[in-house]
Amino acid sequence: MATKIFIKDFKDHVGEEILIEGWMFNKRASGKIYFLELRDGTDITQGVVVKNDVSEEIFAKAESLTMESSVRITGVISKHPKFENTYELQVKDIDIVQLVKEDYPIAKKEHGVDFLLENRHLWLRSPKQRAIQVIRNTIINAIYEYLNKNNYIKIDAPILTPNACEGTTELFEMEYFDEGKAYLSQSGQLYIEAAIFSVGRCFDFGPVFRAEKSKTRRHLTEFWMMDAEAAFVEHEENMKIQEGLVCFVIEKVLATRLEELKTLERDIEPLKKIQAPFYRKTHYDAVEELRAMGSTISHEQDLGAEDETILTQKYDKPIFIEKYPAEVKAFYMKRDPKDPTVALCADMLAPEGYGEVIGGSQREDDYDVLLGRIKEHNLPVEAFNWYLDLRKYGSVPHSGFGIGLERLTGWICGIHHIRETIPFPRTINRIYP
Ligand code: 4AD
Ligand code: MG
Repeated sequence: MATKIFIKDFKDHVGEEILIEGWMFNKRASGKIYFLELRDGTDITQGVVVKNDVSEEIFAKAESLTMESSVRITGVISKHPKFENTYELQVKDIDIVQLVKEDYPIAKKEHGVDFLLENRHLWLRSPKQRAIQVIRNTIINAIYEYLNKNNYIKIDAPILTPNACEGTTELFEMEYFDEGKAYLSQSGQLYIEAAIFSVGRCFDFGPVFRAEKSKTRRHLTEFWMMDAEAAFVEHEENMKIQEGLVCFVIEKVLATRLEELKTLERDIEPLKKIQAPFYRKTHYDAVEELRAMGSTISHEQDLGAEDETILTQKYDKPIFIEKYPAEVKAFYMKRDPKDPTVALCADMLAPEGYGEVIGGSQREDDYDVLLGRIKEHNLPVEAFNWYLDLRKYGSVPHSGFGIGLERLTGWICGIHHIRETIPFPRTINRIYP
């Protein structure tokens, strides 16, 4: 039997008889030739079935093939007669694994987004959706690579937790046996803070949950977050690490995923401009700038989705918005010693209107101050005793940040709504499929 290879490796096997396994993507006939568009997950190729070169039985099989039928195809790889760096398969044999008998629901015509989301299990096969998942995978691996190289190790945080991390209004809650209430994690941050006292620098990467009833294009109820945390890192250095990480990820995608970016029709010029240093602005200055652009935001408020959009459309690189009013941010953020009304925090907003992709801060490291904040925020002190302990035994200045994987992927892929960047999106009105 011919050797099995992947379509992406065709260039190394020109002239050889090989076997591919995959699916029929499309079919064209031209006189006594069938052109089969075939995909195997790694790439797409064209199989050429010439009537005079194959048996009647094989030609009939080619004729019978319907969209999405699964096949094993043997043939000889040749260079495409017209296009450079393109290869095709001169088909010799066809083994039909399953002949699809019904019309494939997702044809090549335009479908509404509701129909596509209802058929997400099939929509994932289309070239653009495949390209997004391939780039998402590259981003995940680049994040691991950068962090490992910079002495962060992965520490897995729990998903079932006894307390809130990012505020109590956005929690999915459940009964936990005889132990009372448990909550789905909003971020592993608090747990990896504990781990830095063991390993110095660490990160988690997993699903997190937000129950707020938001319908914006930037919100999912379940999404993937990477939280990174480091001992002896303060606010300034925290931003440097984030800059380095984002630049590394984009470089990796540009170096390895141009084909997929092209499939997505992503203009890569803006991505090529992403280099450190990123822009920086205090929340105060950002509010001034936004008001001058017509926003009604005040100095006491968090930036709204619309504010992030109009601000980041003006810039060609990410912007760190630093020092938000402490009132609008989480209880664990350290305040600026120069101005205790603001937190030593920064959100990284991506350009081209994408908005917040990272939230980070230096953490409060003083026991009494932290205890006071927990009380001010009306959080149950018992649930945070372990977290307070970290400020009792060798407390150190430390900082960290969380990246939303879908927001980062959405920006890099140039996708409007982040629901397309996760394989099976969960939004307030969708939990199927
Ligand atoms: O800004 P957030 O809420 O920060 C935290 O959870 C911190 N504990 C992170 C940390 O410091 N370790 O969330 C971090 C990021 C946001 O910047 C955004 O990219 C993403 O997570 N995010 C969401 N992505 C999709 N859907 C949602 N509902 C999101 N909420 C936050
Ligand atoms: Mg945030």
